[in-house]
Amino acid sequence: MSKPKILVAFYSTYGTNHAVALAAASAAEAAGADVRLRRVPETAPEAVVNGQDAWKAQAEKTAGIEPVSHADMEWADGYFFAAPTRYGVSASQLRAFIDTLGPLWMKGSLANKTFTATTSAQNIHGGQEATILSLYTTAIHWGAIIVAPGYTDPSVFEAGGNPYGYSANAGGFDDKGKAAVAHQAKRLVEMTAKLRG
Ligand SMILES: Cc1cc2nc3c(=O)[nH]c(=O)nc-3n(C[C@H](O)[C@H](O)[C@H](O)COP(=O)(O)O)c2cc1C
Repeated sequence: MSKPKILVAFYSTYGTNHAVALAAASAAEAAGADVRLRRVPETAPEAVVNGQDAWKAQAEKTAGIEPVSHADMEWADGYFFAAPTRYGVSASQLRAFIDTLGPLWMKGSLANKTFTATTSAQNIHGGQEATILSLYTTAIHWGAIIVAPGYTDPSVFEAGGNPYGYSANAGGFDDKGKAAVAHQAKRLVEMTAKLRG
C-alpha cells in the first residue's frame, strides 16, 4: 500500500514555527509518511520585513523552501499546519493562503482529509488554544477530520499539556517540545493511514 501523504505547511516570522515544522516533517517521515514541507508565502510588504533584522533573516533562511500551493493541498491525505498566534488567532499570512482555497473547498478536495495544528505565542496564556481551535473550525468547514493529540502520550504533559495541539513559547522550542510534536505528527500519520484503509 502507498504511504500516507502528509503536507506540513508553516508560516514563521522569527523561526519558531519553522523549527516546529521541520520536527513535524521528520517525525512524519519516520512514521512512514510521504511528506511535503512547504512555507506559507509572506504577505507583509517587503519594506516591513526588511525593516526588522530578525524577520528579514528568517525570510532569507526559508526562501529556498517551496511555497505551499493548491496542488499540495490536493495531493495530501493529511495536513499539519504550524503558525504563530496573533491576537489570539493564526497569523494572517496563513489565513490569506486559506482564503484562496475556496475553489478546492467547493469541489470537495479538502474533505475527508486529516488535520492537525500547532502554534507558538509569546505568553504562557497568550491565546494558544484559541489559535489552534480557530484553525480546527476552518478544517471542520472543509469536512476534514481533526486529529488533536489529546492526552494520548506523556510527551503532551511534559511539553505543557496542550491537548489541542503543541504550542511553543516563542523562541523556546526545546526537546520536550520536539517529543510532543513528534507524537502529534506520528498520530496524524497513523490516523491518516487508518482512514485511508
Ligand atoms: C502582531 C503580533 C501579534 C501577536 N499577538 C500575540 C498574542 O496575542 N499572544 C501572544 O502570546 N503572543 C503574540 N505575539 C507573539 C507571537 O506569537 C510570536 O512572535 C510568535 O509566536 C513567534 O513565532 P515565529 O518565531 O514562528 O514567528 C504577537 C506577535 C505579533 C507580531
